[in-house]
Parts: sequence; C-alpha cells; structure tokens
Amino acid sequence: LKNISIAIDGPAGAGKSTIAKLIAKAIHFTYIDTGAMYRAITLKILQEHIDWKDEIQLKKLLDHTKIDIIQGNVFLDNRLVTEELRSPMINRCVSDVAKIPLIREKMVELQRKIASDKNVIMDGRDIGTTVLPNATYKFFVTASLEERAKRRYNELQEKGFPQSLEEVKLEIQQRDKIDSERKVSPLRKHEDAIFIDTTGMTVEEVIDKILSYIKIA
Ligand code: C5P
Repeated sequence: LKNISIAIDGPAGAGKSTIAKLIAKAIHFTYIDTGAMYRAITLKILQEHIDWKDEIQLKKLLDHTKIDIIQGNVFLDNRLVTEELRSPMINRCVSDVAKIPLIREKMVELQRKIASDKNVIMDGRDIGTTVLPNATYKFFVTASLEERAKRRYNELQEKGFPQSLEEVKLEIQQRDKIDSERKVSPLRKHEDAIFIDTTGMTVEEVIDKILSYIKIA
C-alpha cells in the first residue's frame, strides 16, 4: 500500500503548523514541522558562533548536528528545544540561514527520509515544489499580512516574548521577502496545490476545508 503524504506550504504566520498538527491528530498521520528544522540549525549556528558564509565550517557543523522530531517536539543534539526555537532572535535569523544551499540540501534529505515510510503531513515553504513533489495532496495556505501578524503577535504574547504588533508585522514581511526571493526552492505555490485564504476563518473551518479534500481508503 502506498503511503499518503500531505504537503502544506505558505508564508509566515498563516497558521500552517497549528492546522497541520490538528489534522495529523485527527487522521493519525505523522506531523513534520520543517520550519522547526531550519530553526534548530539556526539555533546551533548562533550558539556555536559559526560564520554561516564559511562552507567548511558549515559542512563540519552539519555533520555534527542531530535534529529529531518526536511527537511534535524538536530535539537538537538530544536536547529539547521546541520553545527556544520560537524566540524573536531565531525569527530574525532563520530566513538568512534557510537560503544557504548546503543547509537546504541537508534538511530536504532529512525530511524525505522521515517521510519515506509513513503517512505524513508536512508543512513548510517548499514541500509541494521540492521536498515531496509527488505528495498525494498539496495545499497552499495563506492569510492577509494584517491577520498573520496578529496571530503571530498573540502567540508571542502568550509565550512571554514582548514584541509590538508593528515589529511582528515587519519581521514576517521581511521573512516572506527573503523566503520568496531566494534562489534555491523559494516559497511559491505549486500549480497543483489547492489555494486556501484563511483570512477571517477559524482554525476549525480551515481544518474542515482541508479534510474535505482528503480521502483515506
Ligand atoms: O514555518 P516557520 O515560520 O517556522 O519557518 C521558519 C523559516 O524556516 C521560514 O521563514 C523559512 O525561512 C524557513 N523554511 C524554509 N523551508 C521550509 C520551512 C521553513 O526555508 N520548508
């Protein structure tokens, strides 16, 4: 029997991970947050003070880095870092790290490996276009910048990171710009992906909409 894979792509703060996590639970799929993987490698680079433009240093670092996602929790070299990965510092740096070809190569390889033998729902920027071009279902989920900024702002407030709405808005705008303009696998909607604008929709409405397309034998 062939595994089923669901790809969810879209810009920052569109609610992809919230939605993907809940769908995974509902249909018993494995959820893979690829953004968390780019965040984890960013954290490592910052901690080790690596010059990310130096290929040799980078290669060495990648060879000595272990990233695991276990039931939605992210482990960097066996250390639980899920919360740390959401910090404003990581938000500011992650897109510059994620545009480095060497890093993408490694992450895509890891993502494909995780997805190879199970039913997965994977969210990110290049899942439908690059990581799983043969995904069973592809969605492109977005919302207005205003609404995405508000959602991110509320999430950050809850986690105790004090940032103004204006700052959050600028940061996701900047990240989307870098993610869409980079040379290697930029953020873009695959032509076959189903486009969903979630502006004004509740989480439940978005989940119902996505589930309405998915047929599990
Ligand atoms: O999804 P999230 O906002 O956590 O992703 C953080 C960053 O990781 C994105 O802004 C992007 O730079 C990078 N990313 C990527 N490709 C993916 C997932 C995330 O380049 N598939």
